[in-house]
This record gives sequence, structure tokens and C-alpha cells, in this order.
Amino acid sequence: MDNRNHVRCSLPRLAIVGAAVVVLVSLAATPAASHGGPDTGVHSNYLIIVRKPYEYDTNVYKNVSSWHASLVASVCDMAKEALESDPSSVSRLIYSYRNVVNGFSARLTTEEVAEMEKMDWFVRAYPEKTYQLLTTHTPQLLGLMGPGSRRGASAGVWNTSNMGEGVIIGILDDGIYAGHPSFDGKDMKPPPAKWNGRCDFNKTVCNNKLIGARSFFESAKWKWKGLRDPVLPINEGQHGTHTSSTAAGSFVPGANVFGNALGTASGMAPRAHIAFYQVCYVEKGCDRDDILAAVDDALEDGVDILSLSLGDEQADDFSDDPVSLGGYSAAMHGVLVSAAGGNTGPGPSTVVNEAPWVLTVGAGTTDRRFVASVKLGSDITLDGESLSEPKNFGDEMRPLVRDVGDGMCTSENVLRAMNVTGKIIICDAGGDISTAKAKLVLRAGAAGMIVVAPQVFGSVIVPRPHALPTVQVPFANGQKIKAYIRATQNVTANFIFKGTVLNTPKSPIVAPFSSRGPNRRSRGILKPDIIGPGVNILAGVPKIEDIDLAPNAEMPKFDIKSGTSMAAPHLSGIAALIKNAHPTWSPAAIKSALMTTTDTTDNLRKPISDVDGTPAAYYAIGAGHVNARKAMDPGLVYNLSAADYVPYLCGLGYTDQKVNSIIHPAPPVECGKMMKLEQKDLNYPSITAILDKEPFAVNIDRSVTNVGTASSTYTVEVNVPATLSVEVKPTTLEFKALNEVLNYTVSVKTASGQAPASAIEGQLTWSSGKYVVRSPVLIIPGTGAKSSASAVAKQPTGGT
Ligand SMILES: *[C@@H]1O[C@H](CO)[C@@H](O)[C@H](O)[C@H]1NC(C)=O
Ligand SMILES: *[C@@H]1O[C@H](CO)[C@@H](O)[C@H](O)[C@H]1NC(C)=O
Ligand SMILES: *[C@@H]1O[C@H](CO)[C@@H](O)[C@H](O)[C@H]1NC(C)=O
Ligand SMILES: *[C@@H]1O[C@H](CO)[C@@H](O)[C@H](O)[C@H]1NC(C)=O
Ligand SMILES: *[C@@H]1O[C@H](CO)[C@@H](O)[C@H](O)[C@H]1NC(C)=O
Ligand SMILES: *[C@@H]1O[C@H](CO)[C@@H](O)[C@H](O)[C@H]1NC(C)=O
Ligand SMILES: *[C@@H]1O[C@H](CO)[C@@H](O)[C@H](O)[C@H]1NC(C)=O
Repeated sequence: MDNRNHVRCSLPRLAIVGAAVVVLVSLAATPAASHGGPDTGVHSNYLIIVRKPYEYDTNVYKNVSSWHASLVASVCDMAKEALESDPSSVSRLIYSYRNVVNGFSARLTTEEVAEMEKMDWFVRAYPEKTYQLLTTHTPQLLGLMGPGSRRGASAGVWNTSNMGEGVIIGILDDGIYAGHPSFDGKDMKPPPAKWNGRCDFNKTVCNNKLIGARSFFESAKWKWKGLRDPVLPINEGQHGTHTSSTAAGSFVPGANVFGNALGTASGMAPRAHIAFYQVCYVEKGCDRDDILAAVDDALEDGVDILSLSLGDEQADDFSDDPVSLGGYSAAMHGVLVSAAGGNTGPGPSTVVNEAPWVLTVGAGTTDRRFVASVKLGSDITLDGESLSEPKNFGDEMRPLVRDVGDGMCTSENVLRAMNVTGKIIICDAGGDISTAKAKLVLRAGAAGMIVVAPQVFGSVIVPRPHALPTVQVPFANGQKIKAYIRATQNVTANFIFKGTVLNTPKSPIVAPFSSRGPNRRSRGILKPDIIGPGVNILAGVPKIEDIDLAPNAEMPKFDIKSGTSMAAPHLSGIAALIKNAHPTWSPAAIKSALMTTTDTTDNLRKPISDVDGTPAAYYAIGAGHVNARKAMDPGLVYNLSAADYVPYLCGLGYTDQKVNSIIHPAPPVECGKMMKLEQKDLNYPSITAILDKEPFAVNIDRSVTNVGTASSTYTVEVNVPATLSVEVKPTTLEFKALNEVLNYTVSVKTASGQAPASAIEGQLTWSSGKYVVRSPVLIIPGTGAKSSASAVAKQPTGGT
């Protein structure tokens, strides 16, 4: 049997002395003690939320950790075990939280949890849970894996005084390759004096760029065997190295992947400091309680921004996941949380990390492609992309075949029987990642491979380096190639490699995988908030996975990845630049600056498209695509303090218990004794109203803070379809001073007086001569009426 089943309750040493005994004895008199018997149940990890703030017991327990330990001990067999407690026995307390929740995580049996439920201090027990990193999971699903390019911060943001100096970005991820050139500290100043964190690498590894590095696995180690103790976040961490270097990597000249995307790589805030917290483990995931512990410490360490490229789809409400819980505490500490919105698009209601105090980031494409064409014997040329460009592929036409097995090139036996020697083979997405197929196809003797992207990807390709010359083509082009094969006797093809092409038209478009609204946990708050570059992003990695190098070939130190995981650190880095320029701004003000200054058109000046070519809905892009230059100086902000979310949570109908488990360590509240706030009236930079009651009219309140020019006058402009009638009062805002706050009210009703048939999109813009402050306006029917992300009435083009 697993010897963990014999882990005994250990008592905090404090509990054995003096007054503590009195308390423990009285706890022992509860039904827990009568449970009796040796501790033989199966233990697993639980997060336990408790009622009383630890101050309650300060007479007895010097700190929260010993109080939590006593609570664990109180359900163990006190009489037999506790007082003769073996000091070497393993404590069952895993983490004692100080900031993120009022509670602890511990190894407990179901019987012990049942005993706890009877205690007056007990609030809630959560069984263990695993979160995932949010790089595209499409490889398994679709036979592809995403690569890409980085879109630099817009010219003009970086200047001699602002590349993120003095700002600390905390990154929770799967590990970091500390020796990477992106984390070179030589041009960096020491971290600010407030930095209170630590580096668990030995001294040679951390520097003024990578100022902190720790691993959190106290909870994970119980569920995943083989996690060594201690696991330092070194050398592991494809994902964490990529996200960290995207947010704040130093300048690295000559970065490329096999000659593609060649240029100087850097993060969005190249002079910001990185504090790294390892909470995820390769091929396993990220344990909830380890995530909470990392956020708990990061807030005390002094981070300014938290970048979280992880999440989970199944969460009941905001009291139920670590990003919401930790994110609220972060807001209280003035720390902005930038989190990936998920990769389970393009279906509706797929967005994650959707609490209003978190910046929820979706992904768009960039204007860089790695162009390669398939030339057919019929003289037709069809474009795709490639990161596997051989030096001399030659220009002779080669026989073209399709896989006669499952069409997806997953069986080496089939490939051998087909005799693909010297031929180009076309393979559908699916079954396995395309890099694995490349190895089969190469072993079978093929000269080249065409991979057809899934239909849902539209024109978006996420190229990978493959073991043999490979062109990845959009679904539509794949159909044309197959039609040619069907219609022709002696089919041939060749590849034409065109290399890295910049300024490709119709960029950005929304990434097919980027998760979509509506927000399942708060339908009246539009999510995602914003999109950023998340397709084919070049950034640092320890090495490229899944590639066989030629002898003596140098392993590239950069690779291309796709996912909202890649978009979130772009926003984290840009937020660091805003934080540097405006150190006193609240997280909500930084978020507002990002959201009210977005681009809503692509590089052809057309509305940003979705994968199907139609204008992207707000549920896909939120406020739009980040514009770093404009976000530095937004004119007005929609500000919020952490306390402003409390009446909002009460307005969502949360019980006092749930509200208090989220807002810890703020003093507990009773919703019944305060004004509740409807979702529409939370002072959010986007405006959403649910019209579900006669007479289908609402008033929406907003406050704007002047952070632009002291004396300035803004006038409002509203663009909505004719099915809505919108009035704003007042129509002019005259500011006399910086940081002055003025209010306005938006009155919305349907022109027909009937419920809206589907979601209606518009926008509201405050303009001074110098600034344009835009909010998306989304009016939606009640859940009873028909509504879906695909049935969105588009606002008329034009207007702004
Ligand atoms: C809290 O008390 C425990 C047990 O006495 C001790 O191990 C721990 O270091 C203390 N923590 C702090 C922050 O004082
Ligand atoms: C640099 O940019 C910041 C805003 O990002 C601005 O406040 C500052 O004045 C600029 N400094 C220089 C030297 O241009
Ligand atoms: C520091 O860590 C590196 C990488 O793990 C290791 O190679 C080196 O021996 C360590 N140095 C010391 C002094 O422990
Ligand atoms: C496979 O095809 C190649 C080229 O067409 C040919 O040289 C070879 O003999 C074939 N092998 C088999 C086993 O048929
Ligand atoms: C097939 O096409 C190739 C290239 O166009 C040509 O060299 C070859 O002779 C053709 N074979 C047959 C059987 O027509
Ligand atoms: C926003 O509100 C916070 C908290 O009340 C305050 O500290 C800050 O000064 C306000 N203004 C801005 C621009 O952040
Ligand atoms: C704006 O509204 C807030 C409440 O939402 C109120 O406290 C404040 O006094 C108002 N400010 C002005 C200038 O009317």
C-alpha cells in the first residue's frame, strides 16, 4: 500500500505548550475525536476555506500557519496521536494561505473532511484540481502545432526612459531556461528596493533580469509521482521560457528559427524584471493549490504585474478558481493580472479567466507569414506556410500522392506499402501532431509533405519545423489539391519556398482557437477584454521539441508557438510599460487604458475579421486589438478599486460566504446590508446591458477619470444599429483638473419596445481634440431569448 496512507496528523509544536492545549482539548471534545481509530483512510489534497479570520485566535496562535495546522489536527485522532505526536511525522498541512484565500490546503481523508464540515469554522472544501497551460492544444486535436511571429510593440512606445524599468512581472508557468540569452542581466539595473522575493537557483543563475525563481509543488507532488523534491525551475519549461521572454525578454540579435523570422528578439518590456514561479509540470498540469501558493507569495514579494497563461474551463463561479481568487487579492495589492482567455474557440461560451478584476486576453494573428507555395502539375500555385525550408529542394516536379490509409498519414505500414519514395504526400490534419507524421513520412522515403489545416482554421496556419520539407496549407487549398489528384492521371507537384513575409494583408484576424464569450459566470461583463498577438509568436525556448537536427546543426534557441498563452504575456509586458509611465495607476486604470485605445480595424482598414472572413464579434475580440502606443496615454480611464467589486459580487447573487471567500483578506461583508450593484453598472471600460424585462430599457452609469490634459472637453458619439435608441447624459464632459472624476449615464432602449432578437453591437466614444476613448456597447437579450455568438447583429460600418 501507498505509505502515504500512514501519514499521521502532526501537531504544530506551539499546540503542545501552554494555553494552546486548552483549545486543542476543547476541539478534541468535538465529534472529530470520537471518530477515533488510526488514520487509515486514503488521503488526498483538499483546499479548505475557513470562516474566522486568524486574528480570532491570535491569543493562542502566533500566526495563521499554526492556526491552520491546529484546524487540521482537530479532526485527527487527538487522543491517541496528537499529544504524543512524533515530531518527525509529516505535517498534513500543505499550504497555509495568507492573501489569496482564508484557508489552507491539506492531505485529508473524506472522513476527515466530513468531520470538518461540522466545525463552526468550516466554510467549504474543494477536492484537488488540475489546470492547464493555454498553448494551443490543437496539435493533438488537429494534427498541427502553432508557430508564428512577434509583432513588436508599436514604434514610439519604447524610449530612453521607458522599456519597463523598475517594473516586476511575476510569471506563473512550467519552468524557465535561465541560461537563455533573453534573460541576460547585463544591461539591467538592480530590482527596486521593494523586491522581497527569492531565487532558489544557485547564485550564478539569477541576475537583474531574472530576479526570482521558485517552484511550487507541495501539492502537486502528492498527485504526480516523479516530481522530485526540490524541483528547480531550470531547463524545464518550453512554455515558461516562451511566455517570460515574450513579456520581458532582453534584446537578442539574430533570433530566428532555421533562418525564418530573423531579427532582434525582445519582450514587450525589455527592461522589466522577471520573477518566475513554477506551478506547472510538463505533461501533468498545474495544481490549483500550488497556483494559489505562488500568487500568495508573489503578492508579498512585490510583483507589479502577474502573467497567467493557464486556466480551466470548469469553474462554477468566481469563488471556485485560483485565477479569480488570486486575481482579486492581486487587485487589492494594486497588481494587474493578465490572463489567457483560453484556446477552446471558436465556439460560444468558451472563454476562461473571466472575472472582471482580471484582464482576459484573446489571440489574434500577426502580419508575418512564412510563405511557401505548392505548385501543381496543372500549373496552379496554392499558398501555404512552412518553417521547414530546405536549402536546395530543386525545381523538378515530383509525383504527388494522397495517403490511402486514413488520409492523415498516421500508419507507417500503409505509407511503406504505398511506396512514397521520392514523392510528395498530402496528409489531412488529425490523428497525431504533424511533426510526428513528418518522421513517419520521412522514414517511408517521401521527399515532401503537404499538411492540410482543419477547416475551422480558415486562412490561419500555425507552421512547425518538420523533419522533411513540408508546406502547411489552409483547408480550402487542400481541397483544391485533392480535386486535382482525383481529376488527373499523372499528378505532380513541387514546393516554392518564399521565406518570411511581413506586412501580410488582412492582419490581424482572430485566431480560430481563441476562446469566445459570452462570459459564463457574469454574462453582463463582456469577455474576452482584448486580443493580442497569439499566433506564430517567436520567443525564447530551451530547444525546439520534436525535431531531429542534422549532425553539427545548432539547436535554435527560439521557436514559434501559438495560443492565448502567447497573447497574455504580450499584454503583461505592455502593462509593465504603462505601469512604468504611470506608477500610481490602479490595475483597473491600466486595464482601461489598454481597452479604450484598441484597434478595431486590420491593416487594410477593414473591421478585424474572424476566421470565416466576416467581421469579428465582440465575443471574439472584446474591445479590440491592443494598440500599445495609444494605451500609454489614454486621456480618460474607467477606474475601480478592489472594494468596488464587492457590491458587484453581491449583485450577482453570491452568498455572503462566497463573497467573503473571494474578497479575503478584506473585512467580511454582509450583502444584505449594502447597496448591490448590477453588472451593467460596474465601472467597466466596455458596456454590456441585458435587456430581459419590459419595457426593454435600462440606464447605465459610468465614471471617467481625467488622466490626459488637465483642462479638456470631451464630447460623446454613439454608433448603434437603428434597432436601438441610445441617449447619453451629459453629452459633454468638461474637466478642469487631472484626476477629476465625472459621471455620465447611458439610456438604452430597443426602438421597437420589444426584447432584442439577438446581441446588438455598437460603440460609445468620448473625444477631445487629442484623445479618443472608445467603449464597445453590447446589448443582449435575456437567456430565455435566442442568442449566440454567431447570431450577432453587426454595427453599421462607418461612424468612427
Ligand atoms: C508560523 O508558525 C509556524 C509554526 O510555529 C512556524 O513554522 C512558521 O515559521 C511561522 N511563520 C511565520 C511567518 O512566522
Ligand atoms: C517616454 O515615454 C513616456 C511615456 O511612455 C513619457 O512619459 C516620457 O516623457 C518619454 N520620455 C522621453 C525621453 O521621450
Ligand atoms: C548551479 O546550478 C547549475 C545548474 O543546475 C549547476 O550546473 C552548478 O553546478 C550549480 N553550482 C553550484 C555552485 O551549485
Ligand atoms: C518505389 O518507387 C521507387 C521510385 O519510383 C522505385 O525506385 C523503387 O524500386 C520502388 N520500391 C518498391 C519496393 O517498389
Ligand atoms: C508524369 O509526369 C512527369 C512530369 O510531368 C513526366 O516526366 C512523366 O513522364 C509522366 N509519366 C507518365 C506515365 O505520363
Ligand atoms: C483609481 O482608483 C484607485 C483606488 O481607489 C486610486 O488609487 C487611483 O489613484 C485612481 N486613479 C487612477 C488613475 O488609477
Ligand atoms: C459620480 O457618481 C458617484 C457614485 O457613482 C458619486 O459618488 C459622485 O459624487 C458622482 N460625481 C459627480 C461629480 O457627480
